[in-house]
Amino acid sequence: MFSRISSGVAIAFLATAITCSPVTSTSRDKQSIARPDIQPFPHNAGRARPFSPSRNATCHVAAQDSGADDSAAILSAFQECKNGGTIVLDADYTIGTALDLTFLDGVDIALSGSITFTNDIDYWTANAFRYDFQNSMTFWKIGGKDVNIYGGGVGLIDGNGQAWWDAFAANNSLLRPIALVVDGLEGGSITGLRMINSPNWFNLIANSSDILVSDMVLEAKSANSNPVKNSDGWDTYRSEYVVIQNSVIDNTDDCVSFKPNSTNIVVQGLVCNGSHGISVGSLGQYVEQYDIVENVYIYNNSMSNASDAARIKVWPGVHSELEPVLSGGGGSGYVKNVTYERYESNNNDWAIEVNQCYGQSNTTLCELYPSNMTISDIYFIDMWGTTSSKHDPKVGTLVCSSPEQCFNFHAKNISITSPTGKSEWICANFDTSDLEGFNCVADV
Ligand SMILES: *[C@@H]1O[C@H](CO)[C@@H](O)[C@H](O)[C@H]1NC(C)=O
Ligand SMILES: *[C@@H]1O[C@H](CO)[C@@H](O)[C@H](O)[C@H]1NC(C)=O
Ligand SMILES: *[C@@H]1O[C@H](CO)[C@@H](O)[C@H](O)[C@H]1NC(C)=O
Ligand SMILES: *[C@@H]1O[C@H](CO)[C@@H](O)[C@H](O)[C@H]1NC(C)=O
Ligand SMILES: *[C@@H]1O[C@H](CO)[C@@H](O)[C@H](O)[C@H]1NC(C)=O
Ligand SMILES: *[C@@H]1O[C@H](CO)[C@@H](O)[C@H](O)[C@H]1NC(C)=O
Ligand SMILES: *[C@@H]1O[C@H](CO)[C@@H](O)[C@H](O)[C@H]1NC(C)=O
Ligand SMILES: *[C@@H]1O[C@H](CO)[C@@H](O)[C@H](O)[C@H]1NC(C)=O
Ligand SMILES: *[C@@H]1O[C@H](CO)[C@@H](O)[C@H](O)[C@H]1NC(C)=O
Ligand SMILES: *[C@@H]1O[C@H](CO)[C@@H](O)[C@H](O)[C@H]1NC(C)=O
Ligand SMILES: *[C@@H]1O[C@H](CO)[C@@H](O)[C@H](O)[C@H]1NC(C)=O
Repeated sequence: MFSRISSGVAIAFLATAITCSPVTSTSRDKQSIARPDIQPFPHNAGRARPFSPSRNATCHVAAQDSGADDSAAILSAFQECKNGGTIVLDADYTIGTALDLTFLDGVDIALSGSITFTNDIDYWTANAFRYDFQNSMTFWKIGGKDVNIYGGGVGLIDGNGQAWWDAFAANNSLLRPIALVVDGLEGGSITGLRMINSPNWFNLIANSSDILVSDMVLEAKSANSNPVKNSDGWDTYRSEYVVIQNSVIDNTDDCVSFKPNSTNIVVQGLVCNGSHGISVGSLGQYVEQYDIVENVYIYNNSMSNASDAARIKVWPGVHSELEPVLSGGGGSGYVKNVTYERYESNNNDWAIEVNQCYGQSNTTLCELYPSNMTISDIYFIDMWGTTSSKHDPKVGTLVCSSPEQCFNFHAKNISITSPTGKSEWICANFDTSDLEGFNCVADV
C-alpha cells in the first residue's frame, strides 16, 4: 500500500529585507543590513519557529587593515552584546584565533562585510575545536539561544581552503576545519550569506533545534589540480526541527547530509551541483553508538553533475579499517520515514542509491555481517530527469544486507533515463513490490 505523508504547515513567504542605514561609524563601512523576515516555505519542520524578539543594543566591530587578526575585537563585541544585542560586522575581517561563541542569548549577527579565516595550518591544527564525531574540527562555534546570522545577500565567509587542500594532497591524515559550526543552539537562523572554499564541510549543525537556513550560496573550487575535499554543504547531527531551503550549492561532497540523530528535518528548494547528493548518513559507523534519522522531508530540489541524487548510506555490521580517515561499521540504529519528493536529476551517476555496505569494498564481509541499521518507510515520489553514462543502462542501485534490515520502500512516478534512454534499477534484498514502474535487475 502506498500512502502519502502529510505535509507541514505553510507559512507566508517574505523576501529578504535589505535596508541602507544613513549612519556610518567608520569609512570602511559597506552597508548595514536589517534582520530579514524569512520563514520556512512551503513546508516547515513540524512545529512553528520560536519567537525571536528584536534586539536592544548594537556592537559594531572595527576591522584592522592588511589581514591582521580581528578575533579579539570580534570576541569582545560578542561578550558585550551577548544578551539581546546585534553584532555588526560590516567590514573585511580576518579570524586567526579559534573562537568559542556558544554563550549567546538573543543575538543577531549582521554580516554585510566578509570574514576570512587564516590558512595557518600549524596554528589551527593545534588550536581548532575538536570533535570526536568523524574527527571533525572547526575554526569557531556558535551556540546558545535565539541567534540569527544574516548576510543580506552580500555577507561572505571565506574558509581559505586552497592551502588545506594542497596540504591534504601531500598528507591525507591532515584534519581540516569546518567553516561554520552551530553547536548547541536552541532557535536560530542563518540566511543570506555566501560561503566559499571551506577546508572541510561548510556547515555542521550539531546539538541544536529549531534552526532555519535559507538564501545561501555555497561554492568550493580548487585553483589547481588538488581536489576540494569533503566540502559538504550542511551536515546535521544530534539536531531536530531544522529547515534548509532556497539555496545554491556548488561543491564536491554531500550537498546535505543527515548524520546520527537528525530528526524532523526539511530540505527544500535547493539547487545542488557537483556533489554526492542529499544523503542520509553515513550511519552505523561507531560500534557503541545508536544512530537515528527519522521524519525527513526532502522536497522540490534539483541535483546536477553529482554521484547521487537521493542517497542512504549505512555501514556494515562489523568494524573495519579502509582508509586512515575512513573506518568504521558495526553501529546500530534506524532510518525511518524519509521522503524524497519532486526531485530533478541531471547527469548524476545514480538517481537513487541505497547502500548498507558503506565504507567497505569487501562485499563478502558485508554479506557475512549485515548492517545493524534498519532502513524503513522510505518514499521516492515524483523524480524526473537523467543520469550520466557511468552506469548506463542502470540509473539507480538499492542494495540492502537483508530484508529484515530494509522494509516499507515505496516509489511512485519516477521517470529517470540514462543517456541510451534505458532505466534499469539494481534492487537487492528487500521487497520491491511497491516500487511502481521500476525495472529491477540483479546486482551483477
Ligand atoms: C535586552 O534584551 C535581553 C534579551 O532579550 C534582555 O535580557 C535584556 O534585559 C534587554 N536589555 C535591555 C536594556 O532592555
Ligand atoms: C600529517 O598530518 C598529521 C595530522 O596533522 C600529522 O600528525 C603528521 O605529522 C603529518 N605527516 C606529515 C608527513 O607531515
Ligand atoms: C554535542 O554535545 C555533546 C554532549 O554535550 C558534546 O560532547 C559534543 O562536543 C557536542 N558537539 C558535537 C559537534 O558533537
Ligand atoms: C521549488 O524551488 C525553487 C527554487 O529552487 C523555487 O523557485 C520554486 O518556487 C519551488 N517550487 C515549489 C513548488 O515549491
Ligand atoms: C557543476 O559541477 C560540475 C562537475 O563537478 C563542474 O564541472 C561545474 O564547473 C560545476 N558548476 C557549474 C556552474 O557548472
Ligand atoms: C541518539 O538518540 C538515541 C535515543 O535518544 C540515543 O540512545 C543515542 O545515544 C543517540 N545517539 C547519538 C549519536 O547521539
Ligand atoms: C513522517 O515525516 C513527515 C515529515 O517528513 C511528517 O510530516 C509525518 O508526520 C511523519 N510520519 C510519522 C508517522 O511520523
Ligand atoms: C553540470 O555540469 C555541466 C558541465 O560542467 C555544466 O554545463 C552545467 O551548468 C552543470 N549544471 C549545473 C546545474 O550547474
Ligand atoms: C573479505 O572479508 C572476508 C570476511 O571477513 C575475508 O575472509 C576476506 O579475506 C576479505 N577479502 C579481502 C580481499 O580482504
Ligand atoms: C551487529 O550485527 C552482528 C552480526 O551482523 C551481531 O553479531 C551483533 O550482535 C549486532 N550488534 C548489535 C548491537 O545489534
Ligand atoms: C509526476 O511527476 C511529474 C514531475 O514532478 C509531475 O509533473 C506530474 O504531475 C506527476 N504525475 C503525477 C500523476 O503525480
